[in-house]
Amino acid sequence: MIPFSLKVLVYKIFQFLLKISTPLLRFRTPEMFSGPGSSLLLCDHIAKTGVKNLLIVTDAMLVKLGLLGPMQERLKQLGVSYVVYDGVLPNPTIAQIETGLTLLKKEGCTAILAIGGGSSIDAAKVIAARAKNPHKIVHMAGLMRVIFKPLPLYAVPTTAGTGSEVTIAAVVSDPSTTRKFAIMDPALVPVGAALDGALMAGLPAPITAATGMDALTHAVEAYISRNHTKMTDAEALEATRLIMQNLPTAVHDGQNIEARQNMALASFKAGVAFTTAGVGYVHAIAHNFGAYYHLPHGLANAIVLPRVLDFSKPDCIDRLATLAEVSGLKQGGESAAQLADKFIAHVRKLNAEFGIPSQVEKLKESDIPAITDKAMAEAHWTYAVPRYMDKPEFEGFMRGMLPAAA
Ligand SMILES: NC(=O)c1ccc[n+]([C@@H]2O[C@H](COP(=O)([O-])OP(=O)(O)OC[C@H]3O[C@@H](n4cnc5c(N)ncnc54)[C@H](O)[C@@H]3O)[C@@H](O)[C@H]2O)c1
Ligand SMILES: [Fe+2]
Repeated sequence: MIPFSLKVLVYKIFQFLLKISTPLLRFRTPEMFSGPGSSLLLCDHIAKTGVKNLLIVTDAMLVKLGLLGPMQERLKQLGVSYVVYDGVLPNPTIAQIETGLTLLKKEGCTAILAIGGGSSIDAAKVIAARAKNPHKIVHMAGLMRVIFKPLPLYAVPTTAGTGSEVTIAAVVSDPSTTRKFAIMDPALVPVGAALDGALMAGLPAPITAATGMDALTHAVEAYISRNHTKMTDAEALEATRLIMQNLPTAVHDGQNIEARQNMALASFKAGVAFTTAGVGYVHAIAHNFGAYYHLPHGLANAIVLPRVLDFSKPDCIDRLATLAEVSGLKQGGESAAQLADKFIAHVRKLNAEFGIPSQVEKLKESDIPAITDKAMAEAHWTYAVPRYMDKPEFEGFMRGMLPAAA
């Protein structure tokens, strides 16, 4: 049997190769519009590109809330016709994406506008890719598997969030294998996006909290990744600072548009950081909690984040200390280790303030071996985590989240 230390060496070499080849991928950034009302400017931009027939991908809740109304009105005024696909649900499935694709083909749409959280944007990314690529969605899983250029995609995030409006990733659920997998390809990055904090004013407090903790997890995992760069460090730290300053206000005073807009910007910046530096164990585990127990993505991340930071700390003390500093936690005179502890304690404090539990109520002992295998397979080849866990350690880590372990 190959010793785990040798496997880790192979992972590290693979991730180093990923890091040095990343600049060759030339990530595109979307044409950006930002500020309350900027979603209407994005509509103007879409009309200027000559698009005549648009597929709007969203979820039924947002249609019911009337969030699409002003954008639909603007598109009509501009002579852009559209058809709405509102069949996306949280943690979107292959079937939901294929249904959207069928509608797109039937209506002959030539571009897509995603309006919603990460679920709608991710579903739209894959519909755009599938429209030009005949191969099955599962065959696009992993890195660089989108062969032909997708249809043009525009995105208006209504959560802050996944950062999906700027990332190379789309996360898809496959209920037939109880798996949630990521398609990662620079071709998936939207061509245009609007960060319109006003659209987030009605986002309920628990979803604001969970999605905000997702953005924090992106920033933190990108910052402690071994594949960080100067650029990802700057974006991750600024995202962390913005989240620490604005998330509590956004949760407790949802109508505060300034806090909403700052969170939208933070989520975007965290997305820029992790699309290059990658995420880590928190996401690898959270994806499985989504696939197995339908836990909302941000909530799953929030539960796992402080635990992974405790584990990773010995190999990223200075980085955690810097995160504490930008979070405004430094009083002066603390050692790096004390600051690292302060940062992790602050993450736990935020979770408690937002009513986020520390255990996974639905986690079953019997699922732990399979979840461990899937999470290790996802993390070890793709994410440059600061400290590695072997299988027994991983299973022990998972057991710490059983409800009985509380
Ligand atoms: N592509 C990426 O880079 C990336 C990164 C992280 C997560 N993800 C994926 O994104 C998905 C999660 O997305 P999410 O956390 O944004 O949530 P979501 O899109 O699943 O939405 C969660 C809920 O919030 C509601 N909602 C959204 N905006 C609202 C608003 N403005 N007002 C009221 N209700 C609103 C939705 O109707 C839904 O019920 C997961 O599948 C996750 O794996 C993708
Ligand atoms: Fe995430």
